[in-house]
Amino acid sequence: MSLFNVYPLFDITPVKAADVYVFDEKGTKYLDLYGGHAVISIGHSHPTYVKNISEQVAKMGFYSNSIQNPLQVTLSKKLIALSGCKDYELFLCNSGAEANENALKLASFHTNKKKVVAFKNGFHGRTSAAVAATDNPKIIAPINAQQEVEILELGDLEGLEKALAKNDVCAVIIEFIQGVGGLDEATTAFYEGADALCKKYNTCFIADEVQSGFGRTGDFFAFQKYNVTPDIIPIAKGMGNGFPIGGILIHPNIKASFGLLGTTFGGNHLACIASLTVLNVIEEEKLMDNVKDVAAYFLEKAKYLPKLKKVKGRGLMLGLEFDFPIAEIRKNLIYNHKIFTGSAKNPNVIRILPSLTVKKEHIDMFFEALTKELV
Ligand SMILES: Cc1ncc(COP(=O)(O)O)c(C=O)c1O
Repeated sequence: MSLFNVYPLFDITPVKAADVYVFDEKGTKYLDLYGGHAVISIGHSHPTYVKNISEQVAKMGFYSNSIQNPLQVTLSKKLIALSGCKDYELFLCNSGAEANENALKLASFHTNKKKVVAFKNGFHGRTSAAVAATDNPKIIAPINAQQEVEILELGDLEGLEKALAKNDVCAVIIEFIQGVGGLDEATTAFYEGADALCKKYNTCFIADEVQSGFGRTGDFFAFQKYNVTPDIIPIAKGMGNGFPIGGILIHPNIKASFGLLGTTFGGNHLACIASLTVLNVIEEEKLMDNVKDVAAYFLEKAKYLPKLKKVKGRGLMLGLEFDFPIAEIRKNLIYNHKIFTGSAKNPNVIRILPSLTVKKEHIDMFFEALTKELV
């Protein structure tokens, strides 16, 4: 049986990884500034992570959500402590799309409404309601298109009020920094205005932190730069450092009841230990401080880059925008310089999404290679 061919693949086969490096089967070493799409947060194969997961799987890897699992409670407490999202409650699932799907479903239950407002160039995953809220017609099948979604320009506060005033919108879903779209951000006035409008019209404000959360921007969550209180915060990617886990943080205004949400695998013992280890390492190794430090260094270095139009993003969720498509340059960075970077929906943007453990010397290596490709 062959694989269903949905991914254009680079001809590289990583077999081993350590911190910010991956190694192929011939032992070639690659600098990973992509983090498997913002997933690697505490570094590949972090020794504490390997130890904790190994010990947990030897004891017990999985049981369903029909029994007590104290690891879920410990994880939720640690997550609340580190994020500062006091009094929020946690529901665990397995991926970013699933987190958003649960967020939208919960918003609909809570408000008893069904329309969703989302934004141009946003990305929220590939499942039913999440993909319908994603601004990419190519990945929306007819079955998904049944969802009622209005896509607005990012920053269109007037349009948002017009949409919400009809009183049929259960959720406004937004990335505070767009990931897949290409690192665009709206203004403080827009984000804070959107939050206030959601409160005015009994609409859930969903801050999709699947990519930007878990310390990647230097704050625990990207929305924390603004004075907003999201009702639901979907999380995934960096949460498990590669172990599949997602979740939603739920504001105490939204009440739980038996059967409202559910999952077989979500919150299993292995996933909890993976995420708990990520949080402990972020705290012990002061990785959010490192993010700020390395990001400031990156911005300084970018000033001397030829042909650069703009640096976008925050922390270690960065984009370099040019006036021309970067696909060829990205390919050359991989094959000539052994450096992984990311692409975006915007074809002129190179994305940088490394492990939060990345150091200034790795940024030097990247700029040296990129400069060679640009001149
Ligand atoms: C902001 C955002 N939300 C949701 C998702 C979907 O996550 P997953 O691929 O884990 O389903 C992604 C994935 O790139 C994302 O960037």
